[in-house]
Amino acid sequence: MGKEYNIAVIPGDGTGPEVVAEGIKVIDTISKKLGFALKYTYYDIGGERYLKTGEVLPDSVLDELRQYHAIYLGAIGHPDVKPGVLEKGILLRTRFELDQYINLRPVKLYEGVDTPLKNKGPKEIDFVVVRENTEGLYAGAGGVLKKGTKDEVATQESINTRKGVERCLRFAFEYTKKRNKEKKLTLCAKTNVLTFASGLWERAFYEVAKDYPGVKTDYAHVDATCMWMVKNPEWFDVIVTDNLFGDIITDLAAMIQGGLGIACGGNINPEGVSMFEPMGGSAPKYTGKNVINPLAAILAAGMMLGFVGEQEAADIIEKAVQKALKEDIRSLEAGKMGMGTKELGDLIARYVLTV
Ligand code: IPM
Ligand code: MN
Repeated sequence: MGKEYNIAVIPGDGTGPEVVAEGIKVIDTISKKLGFALKYTYYDIGGERYLKTGEVLPDSVLDELRQYHAIYLGAIGHPDVKPGVLEKGILLRTRFELDQYINLRPVKLYEGVDTPLKNKGPKEIDFVVVRENTEGLYAGAGGVLKKGTKDEVATQESINTRKGVERCLRFAFEYTKKRNKEKKLTLCAKTNVLTFASGLWERAFYEVAKDYPGVKTDYAHVDATCMWMVKNPEWFDVIVTDNLFGDIITDLAAMIQGGLGIACGGNINPEGVSMFEPMGGSAPKYTGKNVINPLAAILAAGMMLGFVGEQEAADIIEKAVQKALKEDIRSLEAGKMGMGTKELGDLIARYVLTV
């Protein structure tokens, strides 16, 4: 018998539990095939629990989360909960407290998936965004004065520490070095205006680059990055950027790779506990209907296995998804896939045994 991994599972709200169930189905199958074991502990964190008990993310749960090999998250978001409460209280708090300082977003257009970009295909759309995940405008620095009056003043400051920027850059350089493409790392910032914050990123970028002579460096302002991502996505190999810029460009990136039904990501602490999630939300209107697309959640589960050390399993899951996309799936949209959520999970679970 191979290794055993303890996984914390947070299915979350809406369709989260449905897609997580399919992800687990697939990783259970592959683990048996390859001879390693997965042990799951479920947490009912999310909108339902908050509405019932007023608890968002109890400290005791957060402390338990530190003990696992990885965390698998479905979706957080409930129509009856004020926007921000769960996002900040669960997702952002976990990122910050577990110091998951990298948000890693592979952007890959698979064969058989439609992109809104004309004349672009899988060859052109294949890059990775490394987003800083604990600082910048997300740090919560700032405040409000005279709230609700005509004299209201609001500030929100971007916090960029040399340490935080440098560890993110080092991760990005390492990742680029290992990735099998052109070994080009593009810094995405706004050095022409944000001279302090982007200035720090730029200086650190070229200093760290000296340790990576095999990696080509490139720079694009964030606005230009958006433009190139649509016009010439093939120019990108790995992009590294700050928290808010990363948040924005990865949504754009998700659309060019076929949408939220396929986009997944990891909140990574390379020295600690990382959390993997499909990018799509809780899609409450589809809850319980067996129509939601589980592929992003399945790919997120695959990515998780890669990070705990089972890269072969991750590769097989990706291959199985690619086969299904090419041969079986009509559309990634909920209700239009040509099969149900569970049936698609069953199909991928069968394919991981044979691809
Ligand atoms: C993401 C999400 C979160 C973010 C929200 C839900 C707080 O949009 O993971 O990109 O802004 O980081
Ligand atoms: Mn986002």
